[in-house]
Amino acid sequence: MCSGGFAKCLGITLIPLAIICILCNILLFFPVGKVADKSSDITEEVFYFGGILGSGVVMIFPALVFLGLKNNDCCGCCGNESCGKRFAMFSSILFAAAGAVGAGYSVIVSCVAINHGPKCVTDLNNSNYTYPFENGNYLSNHTLWDECLEPSGIITWHLTLFCILLIAGLVQIGLCAFQVINGLIGTICGDCCGCCGDSS
Ligand SMILES: *[C@@H]1O[C@H](CO)[C@@H](O)[C@H](O)[C@H]1NC(C)=O
Repeated sequence: MCSGGFAKCLGITLIPLAIICILCNILLFFPVGKVADKSSDITEEVFYFGGILGSGVVMIFPALVFLGLKNNDCCGCCGNESCGKRFAMFSSILFAAAGAVGAGYSVIVSCVAINHGPKCVTDLNNSNYTYPFENGNYLSNHTLWDECLEPSGIITWHLTLFCILLIAGLVQIGLCAFQVINGLIGTICGDCCGCCGDSS
């Protein structure tokens, strides 16, 4: 098994996921694609930056580290040819763990936001933005959706984007968990596709 090559595949998958999460979080700042009059009109969980930081920026580092694992110098340290590679695989475990924590943060924020529901106008006479739903009751009862009068379509917008963040975050956690296992194997066994012709 070639653990460096496998890590590279994980890295390649993590990059588009991180970009998707950053874009979703940015879109959430523009309810139904429009600029909000004031920031208090925007659902609070959007400002927790789950997609931009947790599943986005934090994820870039493990992704780049995984991408580089295949090309790591294996003629490194201690007079042991595979030692440098082993150390790289070992440090990738730490990056994978950090990535999983970042994605986990985004998943938690998304769950809270889906449960909480969007902020919207429920009374056109005073266009105050409030949270009309509680404990995710709107998820199973479409009649309640009529309570959100403005901006129209906000519930679909909110649900779609936070669900994408939720699913992407779960996939990221899964990929990072794979790399923890892959990194452990690489640390213990060395990368079996050694570049020095030593495949121990
Ligand atoms: C859905 O919500 C409406 C409005 O509160 C309520 O009248 C109706 O009984 C609810 N339906 C279900 C299936 O809970």
